[in-house]
Amino acid sequence: MSNGQRKRILSGVQPSGKLHLGNYFGAVRQHIALRDEAECFYFIADYHALTTIQDPKVLNERTRDVAIDYLALGLDPQKAVFFRQSDVPEVTELSWIFSTVTNMGLLERAVSFKEKIEKGIEASVGLFTYPVLMAADILIYRSHLVPVGKDQVQHIEMTQDIAGKFNLAFADIFPIPNYRLDKESKVLGTDGQKMSKSYGNTIDIFAEGKPLKKTVMSIVTDSTPVADPKDPGKCNVFGLYSLFASEEEKAALAARYRAGGMGYGDAKAMLLEKIDTHFGPFREKRKKLVQDAGYVEDVLKQGAQRARAEARKTMEVVRQAVGMAPRSVG
Ligand code: ADP
Ligand code: TRP
Repeated sequence: MSNGQRKRILSGVQPSGKLHLGNYFGAVRQHIALRDEAECFYFIADYHALTTIQDPKVLNERTRDVAIDYLALGLDPQKAVFFRQSDVPEVTELSWIFSTVTNMGLLERAVSFKEKIEKGIEASVGLFTYPVLMAADILIYRSHLVPVGKDQVQHIEMTQDIAGKFNLAFADIFPIPNYRLDKESKVLGTDGQKMSKSYGNTIDIFAEGKPLKKTVMSIVTDSTPVADPKDPGKCNVFGLYSLFASEEEKAALAARYRAGGMGYGDAKAMLLEKIDTHFGPFREKRKKLVQDAGYVEDVLKQGAQRARAEARKTMEVVRQAVGMAPRSVG
């Protein structure tokens, strides 16, 4: 909408378990930093999570955990609107309205749906219409830009299609949003494959002490003897160290690799120190937040109030545009 509104960025995060270095460097860090560029809306996608989690305790705990993780990592609730998706039930209303302008064929082409079914997730109607709810998430706040990983790009393209269809059928209400691809740095896991929860090769960002040390020491390296020169470009320990290090620190460690005489164990110890220094303060903050459930709940409530006010404004216009009376109750 060209109503002079500041550019709005929105993204949703699934409450899918413990965050790892890949999530942090590939997505979370950038999302948090965007607060200086535009007005940011971030939410925890618990409606979407219901397509895969059917245990109330697990959904509840994971939702709370992801809220705590983001706040510990520096998401500033004064700057970003941070909320739970299900605290704004208006999105499900918009999702229904959108489903009436969404072609079955469009959804049938969704790669993520096919992949999930292949993995054994039940092909529920909710899983099939998942992208329609995503379109409602994005458009109800009239967002302009959606930072996402590569796997979500098709869903944003579907959102563009749905917004265009709605605007054409009823009224020009929705801006056509764009995606912004999260920096594509692929962080590798302890076994050298892409770091991912599903491969069990993660280094979790809130791990510490012995378990963290054990994970770092388990990073797979080749069997070059200690005395021999080593190629930093081929070593994942060096790759992970580079995520944290300055240019000078990287150059210094690379020189030690090439000179020989240094074992991979030394490089791992340096990596461990970097991880501890970088995430130490976040871990402490997280521990405090865990003790302060009331604060976390307040943040989410306040976020929901701001988000819901926006959503209601949009729904008033949408309801009118499709021929529904203004809401008479509630
Ligand atoms: P996982 O593969 O562990 O299940 P998700 O699919 O939940 O991770 O990813 C959440 C976000 O983190 C996405 O935006 C994704 O692009 C990013 N991400 C996940 N793993 C990596 C990785 N190894 N390197 C870079 N980014 C990653
Ligand atoms: N489907 C996204 C994911 O799995 C999460 C999500 C839900 C989302 N609604 C969204 C992302 C709206 C961006 C915008 O990562």
